Amino acid sequence: MGYVLLKLIHVGTVYITFGLFLARGIWMLLDSPRLQDRWVKIVPHLNDTLLLTAAIGMLITGGLNPLVHPWLLVKITGLLLYIWLGTMALKRGKTKAQRSLYFVAALAVIGYIIAVAVTKQVIPGLI
Ligand code: HEM
Repeated sequence: MGYVLLKLIHVGTVYITFGLFLARGIWMLLDSPRLQDRWVKIVPHLNDTLLLTAAIGMLITGGLNPLVHPWLLVKITGLLLYIWLGTMALKRGKTKAQRSLYFVAALAVIGYIIAVAVTKQVIPGLI
């Protein structure tokens, strides 16, 4: 599969992951039972698997080594941080106040990852 198609899949699934995370965070804040719906427990994981698979595909077809391009290393670290913050926000945070803070932090990390992706800078806006 070509790089351009992989990038299209990657960016498309980024929109979906953002939308689904935002919706789940709002349901968490509202104590909505929809957070427990079966599809809500499955679809985000399928989408995130596709997002990551396309990312790895781009690294391979594009011959991109994260050790050579620090912005890629930052994206990988950012993704791990987002997964941890997201789990704390939607599941593991003990009180709603804690989960809300984790939710806001996770949104900030997604924003940072997107800014890094678009600018290809570890500190977006520096140049
Ligand atoms: C292991 C994690 C990831 C890797 C290795 C990775 C890698 C890449 C690569 C190689 C590109 C293409 C750059 C180009 O050719 O212009 C890209 C684009 C992009 N990535 Fe990721 N990505 C990862 C995770 C994420 C995550 C978690 C998000 C957002 C939540 C994200 C958002 C984006 C966006 C928005 C673009 C398009 C940037 C543009 O406008 O050109 N990526 N990513």
